[in-house]
Amino acid sequence: MKILVSGGAGFIGSHLVDSLIKNNHQVLIVDDLSTGLEKNLNPSAKFEKISIISPDLDQAVKNFQPEAIYHLAAQKNVRTSLENPKLDAEINILGSLNLLQAALNNQVKKFIFISTGGAIYGETEIIPTPENHLEQPLSPYGLAKLTFEKYLKILSQDKMSWNVLRLANVYGPRQDPQGEAGVIAIFLDNILKNLPLKINGDGLQTRDYVYVLDVVSAAVKVLDSDKNNIYNIGTGLEKTLLDLVSALNQASQKKAEVIHRTAVIGEVRRSCLSAEAFQRDFAWQAEHDLEQGLALTYQWFQARV
Ligand SMILES: NC(=O)c1ccc[n+]([C@@H]2O[C@H](COP(=O)([O-])OP(=O)(O)OC[C@H]3O[C@@H](n4cnc5c(N)ncnc54)[C@H](O)[C@@H]3O)[C@@H](O)[C@H]2O)c1
Repeated sequence: MKILVSGGAGFIGSHLVDSLIKNNHQVLIVDDLSTGLEKNLNPSAKFEKISIISPDLDQAVKNFQPEAIYHLAAQKNVRTSLENPKLDAEINILGSLNLLQAALNNQVKKFIFISTGGAIYGETEIIPTPENHLEQPLSPYGLAKLTFEKYLKILSQDKMSWNVLRLANVYGPRQDPQGEAGVIAIFLDNILKNLPLKINGDGLQTRDYVYVLDVVSAAVKVLDSDKNNIYNIGTGLEKTLLDLVSALNQASQKKAEVIHRTAVIGEVRRSCLSAEAFQRDFAWQAEHDLEQGLALTYQWFQARV
């Protein structure tokens, strides 16, 4: 099948492209390399260095004629979205709409949107949180993701099959430890540089950490499905930051120094997704527990230095 992957030079997108290529699909990566890396590009995939907000996007879609689109390209920094909500909306809402419009113009059959769980649900009453929980985004990033989910549902009706995957906290090889990246990438980078791990507050805030290849296997499963739905993808297991630090110490065989800073106001205290609906509909299960996933991620970070 011909498949377009936006954001295919990024952390999750590049693993997805590798898996699609392995399964003999033809892939076009659309990425502006703003946070993605050239070295992540699968050499068997075609590549267009173009922004999803570009007016040339429609032509790129027309030339390739994909049957399906995975949309991962995004401004993914929560802090940036709070400081510059217009920029965030330009990419995450208008850019996404530009891609959706191109998909509809060119009779693409399937659109899979990679969304977020934690940033959409905000502080929740039910843990693990199911898809029908009230959505209370605390940032323009979460709001933009939720908004585009609704555009996708409305505009695709009867024209194109669609799925939304709301991801938990993803980690694994190729995650960028710079800036406001995933905490696991930042902590591993610090451990390898013998730097202390900085924790905001008491370290009892929780997250649901899911290994990148488990996310990819879920994303691949929806390709042939005709169910139009929103699904959470996570482990359903809540881990505190302190749990994470001890798992990282185990993976690295080191004892990292921990520094507690003042808590961040507005930071979600507990976040953990229920992926029961996806497990039921697609017979999927996260195959890597935190210990296995961290061991693989540590090996990759270690080889990189
Ligand atoms: N990493 C996580 O824990 C997590 C959790 C929930 C959701 N997500 C979502 O998954 C997707 C991928 O995230 P990631 O962690 O791999 O981040 P990433 O930054 O590694 O990947 C994003 C990719 O999109 C590209 N991109 C950004 N803006 C673009 C634009 N305007 N036009 C074209 N390309 C553009 C970047 O260059 C990069 O290659 C994002 O949509 C993100 O919101 C990630």
